[in-house]
Amino acid sequence: MWRVKSLDAILATAEKKSLHRSLGPVQLTLLGIGAIIGTGIFVLTAAASQKAGPGMMVSFVIAGAVCAVAALCYSELAAMAPVSGSAYTYTYAVLGELLAWCVGWALILEYAVAASAVSVGWSGYVLGLIENGIGFDFPDLLSAGPTWSMNGFIPTPDFSAGIVNIPAIIVALAVTGLLILGTTESARVNAILVAIKVAALTVFIVLTLPVIDTANLSPFAPNGLFGAYSGMGIVGAAASIFFAYVGFDAVSTAAEETKNPQRNVPIGLIGSLAFCTVFYLLVALGAAGAIGAQPVLGAAGQAVQPGSPAFVAACALPANAEALVCSNEALAHVLRVIGHPQVGNALGTAALLALPSVILMMIYGQTRIFFVMARDGLLPEGLTKMHKRFKTPYVVTLFTGVAVAIAAALFPVGQLADISNSGTLFAFFMVSIAVLILRKTDPNRKRPFKTPLVWIIAPLSAAGCAFLFWNLPHDAKMVPPIWGAVGLVIYFAYGFRKSHVARGLVEVPELSPDAPVGPVPPMPGAPAPGSKEERD
Ligand code: ALA
Repeated sequence: MWRVKSLDAILATAEKKSLHRSLGPVQLTLLGIGAIIGTGIFVLTAAASQKAGPGMMVSFVIAGAVCAVAALCYSELAAMAPVSGSAYTYTYAVLGELLAWCVGWALILEYAVAASAVSVGWSGYVLGLIENGIGFDFPDLLSAGPTWSMNGFIPTPDFSAGIVNIPAIIVALAVTGLLILGTTESARVNAILVAIKVAALTVFIVLTLPVIDTANLSPFAPNGLFGAYSGMGIVGAAASIFFAYVGFDAVSTAAEETKNPQRNVPIGLIGSLAFCTVFYLLVALGAAGAIGAQPVLGAAGQAVQPGSPAFVAACALPANAEALVCSNEALAHVLRVIGHPQVGNALGTAALLALPSVILMMIYGQTRIFFVMARDGLLPEGLTKMHKRFKTPYVVTLFTGVAVAIAAALFPVGQLADISNSGTLFAFFMVSIAVLILRKTDPNRKRPFKTPLVWIIAPLSAAGCAFLFWNLPHDAKMVPPIWGAVGLVIYFAYGFRKSHVARGLVEVPELSPDAPVGPVPPMPGAPAPGSKEERD
């Protein structure tokens, strides 16, 4: 189980594959921004305010800093091994099959659960538009899932916020349907959606910065740096708002389809992250400064966790009707409160149009991870069966989409984001370790991009990931051990014996559309092979 798939075998795999290298630095950066900007900034700004007050601006900086050092580590590995599978593949090459399986298994939390979180975020904006735009009162019980808490190891639901989130189910299944029909965004559609999101955030910044009242920023950190309990305070908010940056690593999953990946992948990773960080800080400042970002308190005057039953009760009080922290569509809400209801609705429409592309990227990223794991024999090849007519991996897409819809129906956005963060932080941690080990075990390999000051940056990245993980809410921290235990049972029951490396089958299977494990379909945003966009 410690067997590694040699980096040379991985690179040979990439060379033999028939994927077109068509993405340039601009497309790659746009792809990154397309995957990054979503529910995190549009919705979770409210939850971050509940945890940290205006101090959430510092939370954005902390989470962005951890992502920046992790992106530098990702860049070195992605430039050395520009192949599909991202953190899973690098871990396989460096730390062996068992840990690679654990990372691949954790990436399910990252991608699939993130898709669920974004679906719930989308639902908040749709309901806001339905209620504010056309004045229809959608039944509350059908617009939110229950909130959950761990009773020992038993998850227990509380139905005070709602029973099931119908709009979230609809969007998750609609995106799944599009993926099965073979709809991948063209580079142009992705660029348009990125433009819509960036324009919406720019309008938000332009309208809010001039009306900032410094009194709204005080007290700056009502819950302190660490808060009274796990998951609260500036650091707890950083662990949650980390979700807003998740997705930049999707750039590295596109490495196999990138022209000159050694140069362009680091540009795409770091460029998209830097761009979003600047926007996020300005948006957070605008939101907190314009209408205030103070947390609501429980009946006993205590700080309450966003999404908890006590929080739902506090938000139901008329006095908190306009509180930023209680809104499910934070940015549109701010614009409405400062007297721009129509612009608020327009921003809601922008979120409505653009967030499904983040869901698409996440579900797609998930099917890609499954593909690569099946190509290595760790998952059944049948999972990657292609549809005869649509030429898409319909089995794995349907399976993923239904799971995403179920989670979106039954969990609140904050809890989903925290669970997704727990898996992502584990994957980033492993990448940070892998980059160091590879420097020792394979020092002479050509490194087209070298992480600067690697013996400082990589340990900082690993420590930053561990630190954020530790500051997630208790329930989210419980998920990886349980999820990991299930994963280990599956690995020893299946992958351990079927692994291609174990069976000496490190060669790539022939990649015809009819092969049991066909070529990985192109990334959303990649121009079609032979198209004018690709030639350009
Ligand atoms: N970063 C992405 C979002 O915020 C996942 O929706």
